[in-house]
Amino acid sequence: MEKEFGNISTKFDSSKTVEIKDSGDRNVKETKVDVMDEHDITKEEKDVPEFLEYFNNRYDKMKKLLQRRQEMRSATTLNRLERKSEGDDAATVAFVKDKYSTDSGKFIVELEDKTGTFKALVDEREGQRLVPDEVIGVSGSMGGDIIYANSVIRPDLPIPQSGPNTTEEEIQAAYISDLHIGSKDTLHNRMDRFADWLASDNHNIGYLFIPGDLVEGVGIYPGQKEELEIEDIYKQYRRFEEWFQKIPEDIQVIASPGNHDITRLSEPQPRLPEKAFPEIKDYNNFHRVQNPQMVRIHGIRSKGIKNLMYHGYSFDDHVDKIKELREKAYEEPHHVMIDLLKRRHLAPTYGDTMLSPEGDDSLVIDTEPDVMVSGHFHSHANSTYKGVNVICASSFQAQTDFQKRVGHEPDPGKVTLLDLKTRKTSVKQF
Ligand SMILES: [Fe+2]
Ligand SMILES: [Fe+2]
Repeated sequence: MEKEFGNISTKFDSSKTVEIKDSGDRNVKETKVDVMDEHDITKEEKDVPEFLEYFNNRYDKMKKLLQRRQEMRSATTLNRLERKSEGDDAATVAFVKDKYSTDSGKFIVELEDKTGTFKALVDEREGQRLVPDEVIGVSGSMGGDIIYANSVIRPDLPIPQSGPNTTEEEIQAAYISDLHIGSKDTLHNRMDRFADWLASDNHNIGYLFIPGDLVEGVGIYPGQKEELEIEDIYKQYRRFEEWFQKIPEDIQVIASPGNHDITRLSEPQPRLPEKAFPEIKDYNNFHRVQNPQMVRIHGIRSKGIKNLMYHGYSFDDHVDKIKELREKAYEEPHHVMIDLLKRRHLAPTYGDTMLSPEGDDSLVIDTEPDVMVSGHFHSHANSTYKGVNVICASSFQAQTDFQKRVGHEPDPGKVTLLDLKTRKTSVKQF
C-alpha cells in the first residue's frame, strides 16, 4: 500500500481552502513524495510466536529473491537433502545458524530451515563473510551428511538492463544526516550556511533527506550529560524546528529516526512523533517516515526515484564481523552499504541490532532502490553500485570526545546533491 503525502508544497493546511495568487513571475516547484509500503508497528510485547512468524517471513522473502538466481531454481529444503546420494548436485536456501573454521582454513557452516539442519563446507573467503541469521543459497555436491559448497549465493541486485531511472524535469535532491542538535559539537554555523544556501536562488533543490540522528538525545551513553548543550530532548527538537523554518517551503524534507532520536531503538523504528514537532508537524513539506523506509520522490510524468533510507545502526556490528569491511568501514562507509545491498538485508544478525518482530521483516530489501542513503558513521561516501547511488550522508557534528578516544575522524558538513534528471551527483562542503 502506498501512502501519498503532499504534492505542491505549501505551509497551509491543505484541507482549508486557500487560494494562492501567483503573480506568474515566480517559478512554483512541483514536487511529490510517496512513502512506499509503510509497515505496521505495534507496541505490544513480542513472544515466541511473533519471532517465529518474523523469521519465517524473512526466509520466504529471501528465498523468493534467491530463486531468481539460476543456480537456485532447483533449491530444496534441508530435510530433502538426506535422500540424496553422495556426489549428487545439491542446492538449498537456509539460515546461517553457526560457523566453525577448520584446520584447512575452510569453514563448516551449520544451516537451518523449518525442516531441520544440515552442514556445508565452504571456502575460507566465503566462510569469513558469513554472518549469523542471514539467509543464503548454497550450491554444490553431496558428500554424505555434508554439502561440499561450490558457491555461497546471495540475492544481490540485478545487473541493470537499461539506463538509470530519471525524471523529466530538472530537479535535485540533497542528502544530509546526523545533525545531533543538543550536542556541544553540533556545527550550527555550517547548518545555517546550508539553510541560507537553500533559501537562495542558486540551486534547484526540491527534496532534502535526513536519515536520522536529528538530535543528540539524552541518556544515550554514560557521561553524555557533560557533552550536551541542550539537556532536554524536546528542547533539542525545538532547536531543530527553528532551523527547519529557514528552509524554503517548496523543498520537501523527509526525515527518519536514528539511534539518538526519541523513538524506540529496535528496528523498524516508527516515525518521529508529532509531539516532538509542535511548530512544524502540520507543514506540508515536512515528512516524518519510519526507519528503514523506501520513499519515492518526483513520480511526476516519470516513475520517480526510489530512495531507501536507513540510518545505519546495524553497520557497527556488521562490519565488526567481517575483516575486509572492518578495515575500511569508517573511512569508506559505502562498502558496508554495498555489502548489505548484496545481502538484500539491512541488519542480518538478530541481537546485534534490536529487531522487533512485526510479522513482516521490513529490513529485507525486497524492492530495488535507485538510491540508498544512510548516516550514522558521520563520514561521507558518494558511490554507485549496479546503478544505485550509495550515499553516506556525512553529519553536522564535529568530532566528539568519544570519537577522539576511538580514533574515528568524522567528515562533517558534506552535502550530497543528486540531479534527478541526469542522476549525476555532486558534493558541496558547508
Ligand atoms: Fe549519529
Ligand atoms: Fe547514529
